[in-house]
Amino acid sequence: MTAGEGESESTERSPTVETEGHPLVRLGILLSGRGSNFNAIAESIRAGRLKRVEIAIVISNVADAPGISTAQQLGLQHAVLVSKGRARSEHDADVVRCLLDHRVDLVCLAGYMRLLSPEFIAAFHNRILNIHPSLLPAFPGLDAQQQAFDYGVKWAGCTVHFVDEHLDHGAIILQRAIPVLDDDSAHSLAERILVEEHIAYSQAIARVVSGQWEIRGRRYAKRNSANG
Ligand code: GRF
Repeated sequence: MTAGEGESESTERSPTVETEGHPLVRLGILLSGRGSNFNAIAESIRAGRLKRVEIAIVISNVADAPGISTAQQLGLQHAVLVSKGRARSEHDADVVRCLLDHRVDLVCLAGYMRLLSPEFIAAFHNRILNIHPSLLPAFPGLDAQQQAFDYGVKWAGCTVHFVDEHLDHGAIILQRAIPVLDDDSAHSLAERILVEEHIAYSQAIARVVSGQWEIRGRRYAKRNSANG
């Protein structure tokens, strides 16, 4: 089938715009570590660059994640739900309950080092975003920047995508690319990619909450106004 024939291609709209009378889309941030992407999102909201959203809750699955201290300092609702030693389905059920308790519309994984159960993904169908430090589908999984550097790519970058049941796989919302410099190390490359990540995540959230998008097959695209 060629692109555009589309008979078996499903088209889905964003459910995140339907916030039932609530003016702001409520974000639930999930993290496991330093939380610089979370902090960048919070800063975009504070500075007015990212409109129509608020952070409803920040959840860490790791007790001493620096990102949770940041949430505390920023005066945001936060929770630690430790995953270590727990079955995925049980832990995820607690996370989903916490997100629902805080009336979260859109879940943002920001360095959340844990796969989600199918039940979690179904509970927030097309309402979970992730950021990955490579130009997917290249270099999924851990140490993506090191993988890209070792492979010798000339362009690297980051991807914000919807989360589905496969690792680093769902429909891509946006990517930002940078050239790999001759004198780069894996470390310097990762640092420059991180700068792009901090821009990309807020841009992607803005696109999603605009509601002006749909997913055709696995292609995220601006909604064709002729289709309503
Ligand atoms: C980022 O590189 C992100 O792309 C990846 O995990 C890292 C998290 O960094 N998924 P931070 O905790 O947001 O600083």
